[in-house]
Amino acid sequence: MKNDWPGIVQYYREYLPILPQTVPVTLGEGGTPLVPLDRVVEKLGIRLRLYAKVDGQNPTGSFKDRGMTLAVTKARERGAKALICASTGNTSASAAAYGARAGLTVYVVIPEGKIAKGKLAQAVIHNAVVIQIQGLFDEALQVVRDISATHPVALVNSVNPDRLEGQKTVAFEICDVLGHEPNYHFLPVGNAGNITASWMGYREYKMSGKLRDLPRMVGVQAEGAAPIVRGHVVEKPETIASAIRIGNPASWQGALKAASESRGDIIALSDEKILEAYWMLAKEEGVFCEPASAASLAGVIEYARNGRFLSGDVVVCTLTGHGLKDPETALSTPHSEIRVPPGKEAVLRVLGF
Ligand code: F0G
Repeated sequence: MKNDWPGIVQYYREYLPILPQTVPVTLGEGGTPLVPLDRVVEKLGIRLRLYAKVDGQNPTGSFKDRGMTLAVTKARERGAKALICASTGNTSASAAAYGARAGLTVYVVIPEGKIAKGKLAQAVIHNAVVIQIQGLFDEALQVVRDISATHPVALVNSVNPDRLEGQKTVAFEICDVLGHEPNYHFLPVGNAGNITASWMGYREYKMSGKLRDLPRMVGVQAEGAAPIVRGHVVEKPETIASAIRIGNPASWQGALKAASESRGDIIALSDEKILEAYWMLAKEEGVFCEPASAASLAGVIEYARNGRFLSGDVVVCTLTGHGLKDPETALSTPHSEIRVPPGKEAVLRVLGF
């Protein structure tokens, strides 16, 4: 059995802002699978090389771990005793886990009643102090920014540059596995840190001579929470994809820059289209991601239906979080509940034998 993946800080240390003596706080994050989506491609009826970067297979079930390992490593190195973040759920889960591992106190501020159950369970089990505010993620972020500016708590939201530095490694991994850059990279956009970080990763890999070209970056927002597409703050963001229910993204400019420099785009899609992609991944490919993550594939489907791809394009979509984070949405999928008395006969009747 192999156990030689050291986590992203150690594996990509030459690309990261750390000291030779820096000891990572790691749970073995990164090194996630790049899974071909051949059955989806068949359904779309076009010739694509389509892959999912399954970042839900990180230790706490989301891509946040890539940024959190570095942010917590550096916070500990600077002598921090406590971490704080605002979150739609995944950042808080990740901060709680890496904070626990580093022996730090973790405070998480979340919008009350608006984060998926699995994520709340993670914050609780890792012993974070969970503060639910009667407001939006955007308001929670403002609160933790203010507090960390004046009090001895390290902010680990993606406004902390260490988070983006860690998250950029997803681009390195994709290129290392493919042997080249993809033509397109699709990903969901909430606070817009991940698209900013992924684009930074591709650019740095190209500058270091590893790539010949760069992908087009396409960010996907939910229609009810699409401030970047609309060009203004959304006061009451609403979407089933609770992870990206954000009305005023912190890395707004980073997302715009990624889209324009790469000749990509930021688009908005309905919850129906996001859920269609969510179900398609699960039913056709055996890949269970959370609803927000499926926005990336929904973007690919939209591009395919509008004839935007060239035959043979290499397309990657990041699946940012694991489906088990949000069992409630999964169980809201129309399905039949079959109940029978005990015994073989009743089961056989259902099977049709
Ligand atoms: N997908 C998932 C599953 C997320 O949790 C997030 C963000 C995103 C996509 C969007 O990434 O913010 O970098 O544009 N979740 C944050 C959180 C906001 O608090 O967990 P982004």
